[in-house]
Amino acid sequence: MTPPRSIFLGITGASGAPYALGLARELAARDCALQLCISDAGVGVVAHELRLPGDDRESVTAAFLSAAGAQATVFSPADFAAPPSSGSAFPEAAVVCPCSLSSAAEIALGTSRTLIHRAGAVAIKERRPLVIVPRETPLSVVHLRRLLELSEAGAFIVPPMPGFYNRPESLQDCIDFVVGKILTVLGFPQDLYPAWSGLE
Ligand SMILES: Cc1cc2nc3c(=O)[nH]c(=O)nc-3n(C[C@H](O)[C@H](O)[C@H](O)COP(=O)(O)O)c2cc1C
Repeated sequence: MTPPRSIFLGITGASGAPYALGLARELAARDCALQLCISDAGVGVVAHELRLPGDDRESVTAAFLSAAGAQATVFSPADFAAPPSSGSAFPEAAVVCPCSLSSAAEIALGTSRTLIHRAGAVAIKERRPLVIVPRETPLSVVHLRRLLELSEAGAFIVPPMPGFYNRPESLQDCIDFVVGKILTVLGFPQDLYPAWSGLE
């Protein structure tokens, strides 16, 4: 797959903001044009998990982008008039990371209650790469059914499950593993974790 030059990144209120931060940082390093939308619940979770100053959308978004060293076109989740709401202006790929199981269900059912859900719906109908990074545990049969529907619709389901075969030495190694997996399904080369070279 040719790596996308533009990406919509939706951040929801699931746990896992460090994955979103790592992804935004890596996309910026690849000169990928970023469109960013943080859900209402996501604003609070991002601020909490990343220990960012402020609690309002504007300051949390600015602090997130500063921490990532990234620039982005930023959208409100209520802005259905934003360009990524339309197939005619949609970027080359979309990622929802982390994706709450609530938002995963909305995207699977096609009920676009926020711009993030709408972006998921547009990616599916336009057959653009859509990466869903769902985070919840344990997963119920309801969650699993929605994730199966998304996979059947063509989405990549990339749960943040670090592998241990590369012998991570830090939490950052585990985060990098997940971010590397997301980059890989998008078609980017990555060196956040080494290719498997066999048992030692
Ligand atoms: C600190 C915190 C962590 C949360 N973690 C998760 C999670 O891992 N997965 C999940 O599905 N919901 C999680 N939630 C609940 C979601 O934020 C909630 O379902 C919200 O309605 C999701 O809306 P959104 O998808 O529009 O962001 C968490 C909430 C808080 C406050």
